[in-house]
Amino acid sequence: MCGIVGYIGEKQAQPILLSCLEKLEYRGYDSCGVAVAADGIKVFKDATRVKALGKSLPKFGGTSGIGHTRWATHGAPSQVNAHPHLDCSGKIAVVHNGVVRNYQKLKEQLISEGHNFVSDTDTEVIPHLIEKHYSGNLEEATEIALNEIEGSYAIIVLAAAGNELVIARKDSPLVVALGDRENFIASDVPAILDYTDRVIYLEDGDIGVVSQNGVRIKRNGIEARCEEHKVLWSMEDAQKSGYEHFMIKEIHEQPGVIRNTLGEFTRDSEGSVDLLEMKERALESMLLVSCGTSYYASLIGKFIFEELLNISARAEIASEFNYHNHILPGTTAIAITQSGETADTLKAMKKLKETGCRVIAITNVVGSSVSRIANQTIYTRAGPEISVAATKSFMAQLMVLYWLAMSYSKAETRKLASLLMEMRQLPSKVQQVLDDEAKIIDYAKSLAKYENAFFIGRGINMAVALEGALKLKEISYLHAEGFAAGEIKHGPFALLGSNTPVIAIASQDNTYEAMLTSIKEIKARGAPVIAVAEEGDEDIVEVADSVISVPKVDTLFSPVVNIVALQLLAYYTARERGCSIDFPRNLAKSVTVE
Ligand code: G6P
Repeated sequence: MCGIVGYIGEKQAQPILLSCLEKLEYRGYDSCGVAVAADGIKVFKDATRVKALGKSLPKFGGTSGIGHTRWATHGAPSQVNAHPHLDCSGKIAVVHNGVVRNYQKLKEQLISEGHNFVSDTDTEVIPHLIEKHYSGNLEEATEIALNEIEGSYAIIVLAAAGNELVIARKDSPLVVALGDRENFIASDVPAILDYTDRVIYLEDGDIGVVSQNGVRIKRNGIEARCEEHKVLWSMEDAQKSGYEHFMIKEIHEQPGVIRNTLGEFTRDSEGSVDLLEMKERALESMLLVSCGTSYYASLIGKFIFEELLNISARAEIASEFNYHNHILPGTTAIAITQSGETADTLKAMKKLKETGCRVIAITNVVGSSVSRIANQTIYTRAGPEISVAATKSFMAQLMVLYWLAMSYSKAETRKLASLLMEMRQLPSKVQQVLDDEAKIIDYAKSLAKYENAFFIGRGINMAVALEGALKLKEISYLHAEGFAAGEIKHGPFALLGSNTPVIAIASQDNTYEAMLTSIKEIKARGAPVIAVAEEGDEDIVEVADSVISVPKVDTLFSPVVNIVALQLLAYYTARERGCSIDFPRNLAKSVTVE
C-alpha cells in the first residue's frame, strides 16, 4: 500500500519521479506528491492522480527528489495528508510506505518540544524526529529516529542539500535500482523498468545512503556487500501495448503465462513433471493460507491436492487463520500471494513457522517479503501485473498448484502423463475463449444494466464462481455474490427475480446434473441465467437464457477456461459502465495493512 520513489543523478528529477510514480499507482492512488531539492526543498502534492499532478505541477529544476502515491490509512485523502511530509524547517522531506504504530505518543512528545504538525498522518512524525536528532549527518539522524518508531516502514529522506538520499526499510518493500551516474529507489520494480534492469533488494532493518555515484547499505550495523540482481521483466511488460487497459492486456497474456510456467516446471522431452526438491518428505496434511483472489486459487488448490494426493487439505483466509490456532503437527503450509506483501498472509506465515510448519510461498514478485519468511519460494511467471484486479497472476498461481500437486502425486505415471498432455493444450484452449470474446461483449452489455448478480458453481468451480463475482464487483461496482450452487436456495433465493441475473458454471463432471436442476429452479423464480458451459452442450441451451461456450478440458483444469470467460465478462461489463477499470475506487494491489 502506497508507492514511494526516489531519484538522484544528472537529469531533472521531477519528470523521472512522475513517470516512476505512475507505474506504482497500483499500490494506491488517492493522492500523490513529489519533492525536489532545488534551492531548498520544493514540495508539490494533491489529492489527485499522478498524471493530473504532472499537468498542474510548476517545473522545478533539481536533480534529486522523492515521490509518493498514497492509499490512505491515517487521515483522509487530501492535499495536506499527501506525502512528502516536511520537518519544521522545511529542509527535510520524507516519503513513507507503512504504518507508524506509536505515532500518537511521538507526536505529543514532539509537539511539547515545539514541533509544529500540519497533517493527520502517522508519517509526519518521521521528518520531525529526524530534525530533532540532526546534527550534520542525515543518515545518523534517520537511524536514531527509526529506533524510536514502532511499526513498518520503507522510507526515503531528502535533505535540502540534495546530494544524497537516505533510505531504510522494515516490513515494507524497497529496491534500489542502479543506473549510469544516476540511481533510483522504488517500492517495486515496475517503477524503474524504463531506466535500468539492475537492482538491489533491501532487507528488513537495512539503512543506507544513495548518491549519484554510489549506494552504501548498512545491515546489522555493518556495511553490507549487497548482491546486484538483473530484472527479468521488460519495459514492454509494464506498458499497455495498444490495449485500452492493463486488465484486458493481462487477460490476453494468459496463454503465454501458462506456457512460461509449463516451460519452467516440466521437461518437454520426457513428458514428465520436474519434481520439487523435497518430494521425499511425505505430505500428510496441507494448509493453504491467502487473501482475496489468491484465496480462491487456494480453494482450487485444496481441491487439486485432495484429488491428486489423497490427503486432507485446508484453505484458510489468512486474516481469519491469524485468530485461531488449530494446526495439525506435520502440516505443510502453502502461502499464496501475488504481491508477496499482504500483511495478513505474512502474519499467518510467521505464525505457521513459529509452530514448526514448513512454509512454501507462491508469489509473483521477486524479493518480496514472503520470500524472507518462507522455507521455500516458488515464483510464478506472470510478469508484472499492473491492473489492481488480479487475472494473469491468478492463472499463474493455478499453474504452480497443478505442478506442485502433480509433483507430489503418487498417482500412476500414465495418469500424470495424460494430465500433463492436457496441460500442454491449455494455452490454445484459453486462446479459444479469448478469440470468442465478441459474444461475451454482447452479454456484458446486457449485464451492465443490472445492479446485482449472483454467480454459482459446484465442486472445483465453486471457487471460480466466487472469483468471478469478485472480479465483477471490484471493477464494475455491480453488487455480485458468489455461491456454492447448492447453497443458493438457503437464503439467496429470497432475492431472485427478473432483476437478478445468475451466472452459472456448468462443467461436464459429476456436478453437472445438479447444476442443471439449480438452473431450472432459478429460472422458475424469473431470474435470467447466463451459463458458462462446455462447447457442444445442448442440454444447457434448453435451460439457460444465454450460454458462454468454453472448450472441453479435464474437470481438474476446468477453472482455467471458465475463469477466463468470467474475467472477460467482468472487464466488458465494467467498460460498458464506464468504470476506472485498472484502478478501482478504494482498492490497492498490495495490501500491507491488517
Ligand atoms: C488486494 C488485491 C487483490 C488480491 C488481494 C490479495 O485486495 O487487489 O487482487 O487478490 O489483495 O493479494 P495477494 O498479493 O496476497 O495475492
